[in-house]
Amino acid sequence: MSRDTKEYFEEKWKGWKPDLGIVLGSGIQLEGDDFKELDRCSCSEIPGLPVPAVEGHGGDWIRFDHDGRKILLLGGRVHLYEGHSVETVTTGMEILADLGCRHVILTNAAGGIRHGWMPGEVVLITGHLDFQRDGMITPGGSPSVFDLDWQDRLRQFRSGLNLSPLEEGTYAGLPGPTYETPAEVRMLQSLGADLVGMSTIQEARVAREKGMKVVAFSLVTNAAAGTADGVLNHEEVIEAGQESRFKVLDVVRQAIATSGEKVS
Ligand code: HPA
Repeated sequence: MSRDTKEYFEEKWKGWKPDLGIVLGSGIQLEGDDFKELDRCSCSEIPGLPVPAVEGHGGDWIRFDHDGRKILLLGGRVHLYEGHSVETVTTGMEILADLGCRHVILTNAAGGIRHGWMPGEVVLITGHLDFQRDGMITPGGSPSVFDLDWQDRLRQFRSGLNLSPLEEGTYAGLPGPTYETPAEVRMLQSLGADLVGMSTIQEARVAREKGMKVVAFSLVTNAAAGTADGVLNHEEVIEAGQESRFKVLDVVRQAIATSGEKVS
């Protein structure tokens, strides 16, 4: 992070180091008595950080105490489809890593490609296809930018609670700004994609490159274009996100519990 950004956080948080950074998809917040807000800063105050424009993405970075863990919620996610560069949409991940954070949870709203997935399904992302850049480059020959051990701990944790296994799938990241055509969705399906969206994978990749461990989840807010009747619109996506936000939050809680970060 830049010297200005560093000075800003030193002044504000005096060396406080988050255990976990969290970025949530449209319309979802960390809500509930177990998330105790300590304080917040507006993205517009943080030097070097882009100011968010899209409805549904609250524009504050918020410090929480959750079960003794130090959590930083990175509100104000920005997207490639707003005209931002890959560097700009991943600035938050750079800052998070430089603050000393080692674990990241990402969520998004996505179109469901896999047959049978209904709006409201929460899916663990186990792989991705990158259509947002010129090349599809996975760092360091790693099998996945998503942390395999963390995924395993999460599966076991859920099974220990007698919860049904999460659905799992491959997320195709597209640049947007428009939703896909039905033909594009058929193409993505034939390439092995189960989900389609416009965020997450650059953040996940940069977080991984910076040495952080990442898990990511999609909330299916709609059937991907052409896989069901009707035309997609952003309001519907926000609405579906609102209706299922507690489901996502529960999965986020489980991901926090299995992050491996110990109470300090
Ligand atoms: N396509 C791309 N991005 C999305 C979708 C979709 O169908 N739904 C929510 N975000």
